[in-house]
Amino acid sequence: MSFYDEVGGAPVFEQLVREFYRGVADDPELRALYPEEDLGPAEVRLRMFLEQYFGGPNTYSEQRGHPRLRMRHMPYAVTPLQRDRWLRHMLAGVATLGLSRDHETALVDYLVRAAYMLVNADDPTDEPPAPKPMEDPA
Ligand code: HEM
Repeated sequence: MSFYDEVGGAPVFEQLVREFYRGVADDPELRALYPEEDLGPAEVRLRMFLEQYFGGPNTYSEQRGHPRLRMRHMPYAVTPLQRDRWLRHMLAGVATLGLSRDHETALVDYLVRAAYMLVNADDPTDEPPAPKPMEDPA
């Protein structure tokens, strides 16, 4: 039996992404990264991906091809702060699911590792850029 089936299948993944995007919608700084005005299609893509990853239907790859998540996130500045916002909403969603401790641990562990892996930019800072070494001091 797959993890997907063990935790309750489609309704559980639907609830997870619904709760997650509710959090995104209420978080202007994270929301600003999402290009589309309607978060509905993004919600469907994330749900299909997670269902597939955890042993459910392969609809994600049928519709979107190979996930290549790092490449697909390159257009968005995923900074450590944005990662932490993303994780906060996702873990709040996980907490609504009422999973067993083992299932919850496995799910959270994956989500945290995936989110850390997708960071591709630094947070903006107020500090000026470090001076460049002089190439030709003469
Ligand atoms: C680390 C923080 C993250 C941020 C800020 C972030 C942000 C985004 C944004 C802005 C999009 C574009 C919306 C769309 O068109 O679907 C996107 C797409 C997507 N993200 Fe993330 N993401 C993060 C982490 C993750 C993680 C950890 C996963 C998987 C476990 C994930 C899975 C996806 C998927 C499957 C898509 C749709 C890709 C496609 O088929 O086009 N993201 N993400």
